[in-house]
Amino acid sequence: MTKKKRLAVFASGTGSNFEAIVNACEAGKIPADVVVLVCDKPGALVVERAARHGVKTLAFVPKLFPSKADMETAIADFLDENEVDLVCLAGYMRILSSTLLSRYGGRIINIHPSLLPAFQGARAVERAMEYGVKVFGVTIHYVDETVDGGRIIAQRAIPYEGEDIDELFGLIHAVEHELYPATIVRLLAER
Ligand code: GRF
Repeated sequence: MTKKKRLAVFASGTGSNFEAIVNACEAGKIPADVVVLVCDKPGALVVERAARHGVKTLAFVPKLFPSKADMETAIADFLDENEVDLVCLAGYMRILSSTLLSRYGGRIINIHPSLLPAFQGARAVERAMEYGVKVFGVTIHYVDETVDGGRIIAQRAIPYEGEDIDELFGLIHAVEHELYPATIVRLLAER
């Protein structure tokens, strides 16, 4: 029997994508286990979600590290110790630097709530709505040192002409919760 792949999820906030990925693993839809959560906000809801699912968590306060390189070295060591195969960023609000990318580059993916390369960076959905776009979307891409600029793996368009941002977030999350697990399945099969 082939060994199950080992996933890490990095998140800073609510963690609905974390939950969707864990649920898909637990249901056998993703042939992998989420073995660790990495979180830079110890009080975030995602930490509680991880505890409920028994997922080991590295939660830290970034400013307590002497430098970003020290912080990323600690994270990469933690990933090594837990034999992580693939890192899934899901609302992790930090740009990764070469310290982590030199050790895990090509094995880190991110989900972003826009049709990249449009609306890279923070507040993508709000900015797209302010701009008046009629087709929103979700992108999953490899992570490099740019902000939401790595090679695109999967995308889905979400037509929306209303003005209710909460409704739009709901539509986007529903797509994310389906597209992220499905894309992880695809990537693991290709590896
Ligand atoms: C998602 O919309 C994702 O696209 C973005 O951050 C959000 C995280 O939401 N990168 P959640 O914490 O998974 O609910």
